[in-house]
Amino acid sequence: MIDLGAVRADTPGCHDLIFLDNAGSSLPPAPVLAAVQSHLAREAVVGGYRAAAERRSSLEEGYSVLASLLGCSPTEVAFTDSASRSWLLAVDALGLQPGDRALVPEVEYHSNALALMNLGVSISVVPSDASGAMDLAALESMLDPSVKLVSLVHVPTNGGLINPVSSVAALAHSVGASVILDACQSLGQLPLSFESLGVDAITGTGRKWIRGPRGTGVLAIRSSLRPRLVDGRGALWDSPSTFTLEKDAKAFELWEYSVADRLGLIEAARYALNLGVSSIASEISSRASLTRSLLSAIPGVAVHDLGRSLAGIVSFSVDGMPAETVRDRLWDLGVAVSVTYDTSTQFDMTRRGLHSLVRASPHYFVSPDQIHEFVAKIREI
Ligand SMILES: Cc1ncc(COP(=O)(O)O)c(C=O)c1O
Repeated sequence: MIDLGAVRADTPGCHDLIFLDNAGSSLPPAPVLAAVQSHLAREAVVGGYRAAAERRSSLEEGYSVLASLLGCSPTEVAFTDSASRSWLLAVDALGLQPGDRALVPEVEYHSNALALMNLGVSISVVPSDASGAMDLAALESMLDPSVKLVSLVHVPTNGGLINPVSSVAALAHSVGASVILDACQSLGQLPLSFESLGVDAITGTGRKWIRGPRGTGVLAIRSSLRPRLVDGRGALWDSPSTFTLEKDAKAFELWEYSVADRLGLIEAARYALNLGVSSIASEISSRASLTRSLLSAIPGVAVHDLGRSLAGIVSFSVDGMPAETVRDRLWDLGVAVSVTYDTSTQFDMTRRGLHSLVRASPHYFVSPDQIHEFVAKIREI
């Protein structure tokens, strides 16, 4: 059980606003804000290099903290600046060639699909089953040794679906294909275990369900996968003609980064671990199902989420009112939601004949009363 009063007291932004955009960019809790602000203040006094040196052990500890959240070894963790950066690093390490085949889910995220298209990789979409999740029988029938990658989105950007992961990974590995799990919308929301899921890389972002600062991301990657592009962080230039690549996932990092933001991300991950990710998952799930059932009871409102067991993203439409109008009118009434477009999930939205949806994504710090208030405001508009 999460102490609602305590987490709300830690969340300055949650009192004046009904904040339902955690799938966009969440409200960081006070310890995260303090970590970022105090480091920036220290940089202003002693300079960035000295300030970073003073926090060396906290920065090093960060690998273990993020490893606990990802269920992997600290040596498999690389810090990045976004989920997309992590995904690009992972796909680059696979060394795909034009003409190689990749299988992707119907809910594939645009940045992943675009990277593959730009590489000249041939993409096939794995159909979904009746619930909307990746169809395992269809996947099996599409796999052969020409498939080099199965890309899987754990929770899509446009709804509450949770895709199966370990069975997809096992099937993909049976033909030698690698699996990248886009956990951008699940990391910090659902328990994850890199080891037991059996994927080759997990990509995540800091600003959404972990409640970290913007411009932060993380990658968990198998030690057998190595980066192609490195700088002075990923490798040591040990003589004019030789270099040594970092042995662990740090090889994927760049030397320059925002130390304040990384400290904030580490603090955010620690905050989530202290609450317990299973408790977080169940609080989010109960808020999201309350939201869905209240919204579904309003005439003219349709909930569009796919999936059997659902995560914290509630996607809906209001008859006769564009999604942007719903978002803007709610903002004027003190509610933050966002809009998700077909340009982010073309395969899925085009198949379902959807252009845009309103996205409400409650975190554990949103009180059930606020959800009732939000639904009352939907009725009002
Ligand atoms: C499913 C999914 N994957 C990837 C991303 C990209 O994350 P980032 O903006 O941190 O690169 C998003 C962002 O909304 C997302 O929803």
